[in-house]
Amino acid sequence: MSNTFRIGVLGSGKGSNFVAIADAVTAGIIPAEIAIVLSDVADAGILAHARERKLPAQFITPGKFRTKLDEDAERAFVAALQQARVDLVVLAGFMRVLKGDFLRAFEGRIVNIHPSLLPCFPGLQSWKQALDHGVKIAGCTVHFVDAGVDAGPIIGQQSVPVLDNDTPESLHQRIHAAEHDLYPKCVAAFAKKEISVAGRRVFWKKS
Ligand code: GAR
Repeated sequence: MSNTFRIGVLGSGKGSNFVAIADAVTAGIIPAEIAIVLSDVADAGILAHARERKLPAQFITPGKFRTKLDEDAERAFVAALQQARVDLVVLAGFMRVLKGDFLRAFEGRIVNIHPSLLPCFPGLQSWKQALDHGVKIAGCTVHFVDAGVDAGPIIGQQSVPVLDNDTPESLHQRIHAAEHDLYPKCVAAFAKKEISVAGRRVFWKKS
């Protein structure tokens, strides 16, 4: 059996971050393989992108809640990821909060991308929150996932300017482009064991 680093990706949306990561895997920038792609949305773009790339992709019904997985769904997601023997769970626009059993199954091995410079503007439509607040610098954050919402130790951040003529859509687009740059770098660093965590602080080894 090969000991290639194995990534599982979870997403609910169009999957542009997944594409950035998959492209970085193909280019050898992330030394890993994408073992499975899972979604809680049957017609999510991320599943179509995965299938185009001939990667295993699966819809798992999320159950009765709107913002989290129910018990059966949580079990099904964990089982699929364990069966695929993933070393890292990458949340790429997965819009449900992960709870106890899921977090315990992959402790310290779940990462997420969020479209703001955390701890500012957690939650939904962060680019709109940033614009409404009047900040001059916005951006994105890659962080470890813990029991809080958008709250775990920060692995990397990338800033973008807020321009006078920005609309929520134009700012969102600029943040998205920054995400596509930042996320593959963070996943590559994790796969290469170049990052370490001490409490809330994450350190990058110089390579
Ligand atoms: C990304 O902007 C990501 O930061 C956000 O969803 C979008 C997914 O886009 N995630 C969250 O808001 C999680 N709190 P994509 O499907 O094109 O990668």
